[in-house]
Amino acid sequence: MAEGFGFGKVILFGEHFVVYGLPGIASAISDRTVATIEKSKKFTIVDNRPATEGYKTEKKGEMERSVKLVLDFMKIDVAETPVKITLSGDLICASGIGASAAMATSIARAFSDYFNLRLDDDRINRISFEGEKGSAGTPSGIDNTCATFGGLLWFEKNMQGGENKIELIETKRPIEVVLGNTGISKETKEVVADVRRARDSDPKKYERIFRDFRKLVGEGRKALDHYDLKTLGKLMDENHRLLKEMNLSCREAEEIISVAKMAGATGAKITGTGRGGLVILLTPGRDVQEKVAKAVEAKGYKTLRTKIGV
Ligand code: MEV
Repeated sequence: MAEGFGFGKVILFGEHFVVYGLPGIASAISDRTVATIEKSKKFTIVDNRPATEGYKTEKKGEMERSVKLVLDFMKIDVAETPVKITLSGDLICASGIGASAAMATSIARAFSDYFNLRLDDDRINRISFEGEKGSAGTPSGIDNTCATFGGLLWFEKNMQGGENKIELIETKRPIEVVLGNTGISKETKEVVADVRRARDSDPKKYERIFRDFRKLVGEGRKALDHYDLKTLGKLMDENHRLLKEMNLSCREAEEIISVAKMAGATGAKITGTGRGGLVILLTPGRDVQEKVAKAVEAKGYKTLRTKIGV
């Protein structure tokens, strides 16, 4: 049986901005999606991935488009070579965690294994980017880059179509974060298209927001390089304020943020698509992480405790 995997991810700075070529900072998380491929009488996909309630229904169209784009790009004709793809792994699919990119990467790697293509990570990343067009419409490439390579990354999309800028960011120590799940799933493609429409209809407002973001992402990089978590948290808050102005937050996300702040989170923002999905909470140290996660859970939201960096 052939097998492949892809990591989940969190975005510290820059969801949506990265679509327009502005820099972003994102990290893979250790949770991953695994795809296995075996010979079959007819083409089937069995989706055993754990997921937030409603995620698979809301994202069904995205997933089907994404798999088709991966197959087409790899020139795999499943009518000629029918296979069964089984998706599993410990990544709990939720809006914002990069589940579609983790899936596309895992499938690309599993096909590489199945047909003995020996594709390197650059090639896998390229295929996964193609799959991302099914979910994000005009993706930046940040999700598939994290899903494929792992690590904490500085990412800049090359708007001319050449190679994207990808740099590994090293930190002195790992940084504890909590992901709070609003339980709401949104189609990334629709939200990305909505932001584009809003930007087209009010270019002045978006020019200012983009200018503010460009400044803060540079400072965010410095804060990570110097392991200055206090500044990092403040900048994440600022990034969230910009996302709110772009109408990307929701009542549940705001509730998670306020509870987490009261429990000791030093920075908080929407991560990923927005309008639901996940919130990333900066919680340096195991004690703060535990306290914040418990406070968010007490309000009825699911959480994931993880670490980024090093
Ligand atoms: C989704 O995880 C991140 C977005 O910026 C879309 C993209 O970068 O392709 C919303």
